[in-house]
Amino acid sequence: MERKTLYNVAVVGATGAVGQKMLETLEKRNFPVGEFRPLASARSAGQQVTFKGKSYTIQEAVPEAFEGIDFALFSAGGSISEKLASAAVERGAVVIDNTSAFRMLPEVPLVVPEVNAHMISQHRGIIANPNCSTIQMMAALKPIYDAYGIERIIVSTYQAVSGAGQAAIEELREQSRQILDGVPIEPKILPVKSQPKHYQIAFNAIPQIDVFEENGFSREEMKMVNETRKILGDESIHVTATCVRIPVFYGHSESVYVETRKPFDLAEVRSLLESAEGVKLVDDLQEQQYPMASDAADQYDTYVGRLRRDLFHPRGLNMWIVSDNILKGAALNAVQIAELMVKSK
Ligand code: A2P
Repeated sequence: MERKTLYNVAVVGATGAVGQKMLETLEKRNFPVGEFRPLASARSAGQQVTFKGKSYTIQEAVPEAFEGIDFALFSAGGSISEKLASAAVERGAVVIDNTSAFRMLPEVPLVVPEVNAHMISQHRGIIANPNCSTIQMMAALKPIYDAYGIERIIVSTYQAVSGAGQAAIEELREQSRQILDGVPIEPKILPVKSQPKHYQIAFNAIPQIDVFEENGFSREEMKMVNETRKILGDESIHVTATCVRIPVFYGHSESVYVETRKPFDLAEVRSLLESAEGVKLVDDLQEQQYPMASDAADQYDTYVGRLRRDLFHPRGLNMWIVSDNILKGAALNAVQIAELMVKSK
């Protein structure tokens, strides 16, 4: 891509939970957008979206829709990325893909700008945005990894419904109302829309995100394992994850236990986190200060708190990591990658 002052941008999935935030983030961060092209399914073609105060007509995402596009931000599901990303690349676009379609391909950089920005130079047309739970964990663990190394991570997540898309947001809203009103509920979306069984999400916790693999882990849990190792470029890290959907609209929370390679000093860990880019330390027990999803929602940063040394393992560290899954976990990270591309020209 040549150096320009303005870039033509397509958002694939512009009507979705992440797509909408991509529009908002491009606008808020004043990304140098020339032509703007919102794309979605044929169902939405012809509808209007507003971007930078102007109304745009949504077009159907077809190969020709990428003609003249510099950056194509995809968030319409893995199958759409598989179908259309190469069409966008063939037409000269750089694809920033929010789905899991290409993340683990060796030739595709998997990028969290605060962690491994240097990888973007290796792209061959597609750059992958990592899984939302992995992004926030990486943002918080990178300074610890750099200072002490990491041997092992045990993570349990408490994930917001927005990670499963707009329909899941609506399901939680409607179901909460129905249960409070004593009306029978009819779960249709969560935990996984395409699977036969659906469960109550309001006032519940569901230990399934994405489908299960043969090894007993869910695909979401395996994303955290595999993507962590790829992003840090360290196959020696042992990761075990349990991913749980909870009735929160925005903001994933994570209980993370880390065993470092070298001994750490807790005060030093605090100061490393305080100076880390994109990270805010909120950790004051006297004042009852710790990160919560309700505070992280709609914010760019990843919040870390409840820092404490394990009682038994000399290099064991516990923490609580919270971030807006739709922003840093998806839309913001994608826009930051596009910004990096522009800066690196
Ligand atoms: P549409 O609204 O036209 O169905 P979410 O993650 O919130 O469920 O959003 C999914 C996004 O992916 C929506 O913008 C949706 O558009 C889009 N999408 C779904 N199927 C297709 C498709 N076949 N082609 C292009 N976009 C699609």
